[in-house]
Amino acid sequence: MILSQRNQDLSTFSSNLLPRHVAIIMDGNGRWARRRGKLRIVGHQAGFNAVRRAVHFAVNYRFDALTLYAFSSENWKRPDKEIDSLMQLFSHALNNEIDVLHKNNIKLRIIGDINRFSGELQKNIHRSEKLTSNNSGLTLNIAANYGGRWDIIQGVKQLATQVQQGILTPNQIDEDALCKCICMHELAPVDLVIRTGGEHRISNFLLWQIAYAELFFTDVLWPDFNDVIFKRAVNTFMKRERRFGNSASI
Ligand code: FPP
Repeated sequence: MILSQRNQDLSTFSSNLLPRHVAIIMDGNGRWARRRGKLRIVGHQAGFNAVRRAVHFAVNYRFDALTLYAFSSENWKRPDKEIDSLMQLFSHALNNEIDVLHKNNIKLRIIGDINRFSGELQKNIHRSEKLTSNNSGLTLNIAANYGGRWDIIQGVKQLATQVQQGILTPNQIDEDALCKCICMHELAPVDLVIRTGGEHRISNFLLWQIAYAELFFTDVLWPDFNDVIFKRAVNTFMKRERRFGNSASI
């Protein structure tokens, strides 16, 4: 199925006010499952359906990029069984959804330290990224074994190597230089961060990238996240006055 490239609701929005890059902390899969007396993995599976809906929405609203926090560096602390099930779900998602993403001109990127994943999963990730690398529609970033602090550290390591090689002097290290080493620097800045599941924190998701992002929190558990709530988040974003450090306009 090709996702429709235009949503009728789009015409009611002034497109220059729409967010270009939305990032989501998908929280609440476990609680969603527990409330139904099911295993946590059932919540993750239902969460995957919500991922598909969110991607569909992002295409319809013509976002440049959608970034989803699928597995944090801290998630390795979960029981082995849950981790195994999540890895199976990622593999399954890559195998079964990549053609649909490709047909819809979506560019898939995985951000995070993928070295800790199995060889098979890493191969699958590289294959999927390569297949979709020339697509020009939505960029879909999946944060997997990702941490905002890890991201900054890997960027600092790149700069240290450049200094060691004499490409850069320590005095030349500034915001621009570090920014170029941080994940997703080539994409539109993150405009809006949504967190589901009722917690009001960032949990080591994008740290550098969200310096000026608007934040939207909802109690809705991730598997229940749908177009109505996504639209509410976008509407809230569009009503906010973004000042980027300037004074208020009143
Ligand atoms: C947080 O809910 C969710 C996760 C740690 C995993 C997110 C995974 C998916 C949505 C499914 C797969 C996604 C892709 C892109 C293949 P939680 O388990 O912390 O829930 P809780 O706070 O209720 O315990």
